[in-house]
Amino acid sequence: MKILLFGRDGQLGTHLNEILVAESLSDNVELSAYGIEDLDLSHLDELRDVINEEQADLIINAAAYTAVDKAEADADLAEMVNARAPEVMAKAATALNAGIIHYSTDYVFDGSAKQPYSEIDLPHPESVYGQTKLDGEIAVLKYCKNSLILRTSWVYSMHGQNFLRTMLRLAAERDELTIVGDQYGAPTTTRALSDATLKLVQYFMLHGGFTEEVRGVYHMTCGGEASWCDFASAIIAASEFSDTSVTAITTADYPTPAKRPAYSVLSNDKLFDTFGIRLPDWETALTQCMQES
Ligand SMILES: NC(=O)c1ccc[n+]([C@@H]2O[C@H](COP(=O)([O-])OP(=O)(O)OC[C@H]3O[C@@H](n4cnc5c(N)ncnc54)[C@H](OP(=O)(O)O)[C@@H]3O)[C@@H](O)[C@H]2O)c1
Repeated sequence: MKILLFGRDGQLGTHLNEILVAESLSDNVELSAYGIEDLDLSHLDELRDVINEEQADLIINAAAYTAVDKAEADADLAEMVNARAPEVMAKAATALNAGIIHYSTDYVFDGSAKQPYSEIDLPHPESVYGQTKLDGEIAVLKYCKNSLILRTSWVYSMHGQNFLRTMLRLAAERDELTIVGDQYGAPTTTRALSDATLKLVQYFMLHGGFTEEVRGVYHMTCGGEASWCDFASAIIAASEFSDTSVTAITTADYPTPAKRPAYSVLSNDKLFDTFGIRLPDWETALTQCMQES
């Protein structure tokens, strides 16, 4: 069994790479992992060549153009990385009889729901990033039947650029933080995502692919829901800066180039019902993440 991982140096890719390297030591798994320095995914011909040379059984794509605000002015590159590159992966995988695990986002929804989104709810992205990620989902599903799309949200770890690290940096500099309190989602650690992804890899190995009954889109986030302000408060309370105060502001008080969904909590029931996989609650995962640092 050979796995080809893209996005090795991103937040999620770093953790996936660690876990898959460990797996490759203990199991019959060979891993090839690419970061942007090895291969720029916007060079589609080179991407196709790499996939054909590697001859993997499973492609895991954790690479993406994730700069949500920057994407508003950089739509062509975002579309190339988030949609056209996954399309090339999907077509090449099918030609090789390989499978794909591809990650997507809660930002495919517009946030007008009042209860967690399920996989049958209609996406309606309101940002360039969200639209390009949706385009990527559609391309992967169209060109590679042997595939899973895993939509996740508010991804963080103790590495890389993310909300947790930003809060810790700001708390070291300021006595008070003002954080958006009217956008709700589910903070999700790369550890929880990687552990769950490994179970899907094991399913793939056991069944020789993603069988017809299990293919398609899944939501994969930590449990529960929080506003950015709730998330910040929990981070600060668990940190060495617990005297720092955290005050809620509104989205209107903090304008950004890209519109964010006001509510993008995802229901994870399909993942549990199909694979028996459930990620920990966001608060448990946060505690675990901060203790690991
Ligand atoms: N971060 C979140 O809050 C969030 C939320 C929902 C869903 N997701 C999804 O979860 C997945 C993993 O996200 P993440 O948080 O791990 O993102 P990340 O930390 O930004 O990692 C993405 C990786 O892709 C690389 N990349 C960007 N453009 C590339 C290109 N042209 N060629 C090759 N590599 C390129 C980035 O390199 P550089 O860093 O050098 O650009 C980075 O290493 C993505 O599919 C993302 O859309 C993320």
